[in-house]
Amino acid sequence: MDILKLITEARTCRRYDQSRELPAGTLSWLVDCARLSPSGANMQGLRFATIVTPAKRDEVFRHLLWAAYLKDWPGPAEGERPTGYVVILAPSGEDGKIGNIDYINVGIAAQSMQLAAWSKGLGACMFGGYNAKAVMDMLPMPEKYSLALALALGYAKEERKIVPVGADGDIKYFRAAGGTHCVPKRDLKDLLVAEL
Ligand SMILES: Cc1cc2nc3c(=O)[nH]c(=O)nc-3n(C[C@H](O)[C@H](O)[C@H](O)COP(=O)(O)O)c2cc1C
Repeated sequence: MDILKLITEARTCRRYDQSRELPAGTLSWLVDCARLSPSGANMQGLRFATIVTPAKRDEVFRHLLWAAYLKDWPGPAEGERPTGYVVILAPSGEDGKIGNIDYINVGIAAQSMQLAAWSKGLGACMFGGYNAKAVMDMLPMPEKYSLALALALGYAKEERKIVPVGADGDIKYFRAAGGTHCVPKRDLKDLLVAEL
């Protein structure tokens, strides 16, 4: 598939068909995609945990913060929840803080997995908003590691599309009347500051 088309279509997805389980091996395949992604100084410090069993899924779900801009929406209802998660763990200091390079590595790994997921028809949502302590308590955490990002996955049950940013400059995503999730993206000419 054309990579620009893949990136365009792989919009964040927050409503899933919970009746369709992920094919066996999907989550470890996604971690393999992250494993082979670039890493500063090739340190490969990130670690991953996958969650697919319904009881554990429910537990993770309770600790996630969904769609801050959709004020009247508390998150997906039963039947529309993710059917799997990949949690990314990153090396941290004594204070539990993750360094800048590792945050970059986390972003690269997460985007690899989100694109890989969509290449197989699976929607995904990255989560920087969660109750970190509660999720970390669920996991066998390696020493001096912190939770960096969670990726929710499942078969998409919502339409998502890119719309232009309007004259008011508002970049907040919203739901159109028919329920399509609309994501305003700035124009290329407004982002490309130099073509030397
Ligand atoms: C680092 C990062 C953290 C995010 N955290 C959350 C989150 O906590 N909850 C959520 O619903 N979406 C979260 N998102 C999804 C963004 O809201 C989404 O990427 C943004 O609205 C743009 O939509 P798009 O991914 O379709 O381009 C996060 C995305 C990124 C990259």
